[in-house]
Amino acid sequence: MNNSITILGFAGSLRKNSYNKSLLRAAKELVPKDVKLETFDLEGIPPFNQDLETKMPEKVKEFKARIKAADAILIATPEYNYSIPGVLKNAIDWASRPYGDNSFHDKPVAVMSASIGMLGGARAQYHLRQTFVFLNMHPINSPEVTVAFADEKIDENGRVTDEETRERIGELVERLVAWTRRLRKE
Ligand SMILES: Cc1cc2nc3c(=O)[nH]c(=O)nc-3n(C[C@H](O)[C@H](O)[C@H](O)COP(=O)(O)O)c2cc1C
Repeated sequence: MNNSITILGFAGSLRKNSYNKSLLRAAKELVPKDVKLETFDLEGIPPFNQDLETKMPEKVKEFKARIKAADAILIATPEYNYSIPGVLKNAIDWASRPYGDNSFHDKPVAVMSASIGMLGGARAQYHLRQTFVFLNMHPINSPEVTVAFADEKIDENGRVTDEETRERIGELVERLVAWTRRLRKE
């Protein structure tokens, strides 16, 4: 049986110097040898319009295909107004459609969040986890990677410099890989 794992990661921020994009970059450096972490940029996904479900925009088609091809999903998201950014929700809504073709169906998933505030995006993570129920995804519960005061843990080059944060990201990825392999066997 093919034991290799491909994870698709995406960030809920379009910002060039996004701290959440930095978390994904760190995760890429920390994945085990036989695991590939690819990333997808949500830039260019238009606002969801149900009228277009039968003629999906190219960027959405690409997003759906990349999700389907992946064994697991890793989302790094900011918290906006105590919830997930519209950009992320919009992308999820597209990929969940049309009815009967939810690209996220049955996928293992892990979440990270970085915020300049003291809760590290925890509230956004709980809103996101709520959507996993209807998407029929299989999230891992721990470790919780909520990076508070991200501006003190990520340098001006976008590198996660805080050792404890790097360790938690590494642990999260390892758990996601183990969870993905376990689900595969069942
Ligand atoms: C519209 C908006 C709403 C925000 N709301 C929150 C919030 O509810 N909680 C929080 O911790 N930070 C909030 N922030 C600050 C973000 O933590 C900060 O902008 C962070 O850098 C965003 O992540 P990014 O660097 O990946 O873009 C908000 C920022 C914006 C632009």
